[in-house]
Amino acid sequence: MLIRIPRSSDPKPSEITSESQYLSRRDWLRNTGMLGVGLALGSASGSLLAAPSADWRTQLSDKLASRSKIPDTTGDTLTPFEDATRYNNFYEFGTDKSDPVENSRNFRVDPWTVSIEGALNRPLKLNLEDLLKPHALEERIYRFRCVEAWSMVVPWVGFPLADLLKRADPTSSAKFVRFETLVDPERFPAQKFARSTIPWPYEEGLRIDEAMHPLTLMVVGLYGKELLPQNGAPLRLMVPWKYGFKSIKSIVRIELTDTQPDTTWQRLASSEYGFYANVNPDVDHPRWSQKRERRLPNSLWDPNWIPTRRFNGYEDQVASLYSGLNLKTNY
Ligand code: MTE
Repeated sequence: MLIRIPRSSDPKPSEITSESQYLSRRDWLRNTGMLGVGLALGSASGSLLAAPSADWRTQLSDKLASRSKIPDTTGDTLTPFEDATRYNNFYEFGTDKSDPVENSRNFRVDPWTVSIEGALNRPLKLNLEDLLKPHALEERIYRFRCVEAWSMVVPWVGFPLADLLKRADPTSSAKFVRFETLVDPERFPAQKFARSTIPWPYEEGLRIDEAMHPLTLMVVGLYGKELLPQNGAPLRLMVPWKYGFKSIKSIVRIELTDTQPDTTWQRLASSEYGFYANVNPDVDHPRWSQKRERRLPNSLWDPNWIPTRRFNGYEDQVASLYSGLNLKTNY
């Protein structure tokens, strides 16, 4: 994610190129003391011991093997596995794109509990085995568009979030869903840093109708394999028509509420990152255009720009959720 404390010497948005976006982000990280965190993290995570749960792993690999493959609707070329698993945003492991893969090598998934609480009749506290048990897995190829203007096409494996929420029987006062990532500095080394710029836990939220939408997926795998730590193991959200920061990783708490929850990036920079965060080429980020995106893999010499589509190409399926809503002010 790109966020930077504004200075009077800042260039105007129109003067900013993709390279200067990158450099300004480095400045911001240097100013806030986060640059270099990645280097320190490698050794910090080295002491973590893996303690996988055989039962959950066996169940997951059986379900992955029998996943149903939903026919591709994107018509786009898949992003290679190496790009989707080595170019990541996961600030709990550090702020550079290569930090998550480097600093999650010994990430320990087990023990893991997901609690589902709030406005519902049947609060649940589930270990991974119980969480997964009733769900058949589907592979869905989704476009994935980051607010930073890069994108991928990834075969995610999971099950509809709606099916998980229904197990907890939401009440009529459940209007929003709030998600929270694990806080554990032993497992997420960047959470050890006092000067960390993110107020942990990482939090996200959806309206209840967005959460119940059939496209909204709880992901436990990618490319037919178990979800990797750098991509949000053991459980992450995937909302393909929204900017990537909505798709929170490594979830431990899901809360149904009657009020719109605060979210991490809104709290950090509300003028740049809104609650809705629907992919929208007509609403620019204050510091760069959202009209186009760099489809990975790419390079400085071959940026592979493609036009950005409204709702990331899922307009026919989701636009009705927002009829009557001003998408410019509700960005
Ligand atoms: N979830 C948590 N807990 N922490 C994060 O830093 N980054 C978000 C999102 N979920 C993030 C997170 C952002 S900005 C993006 S673009 C996507 O994860 C990146 O997902 P990927 O690394 O699997 O491509």
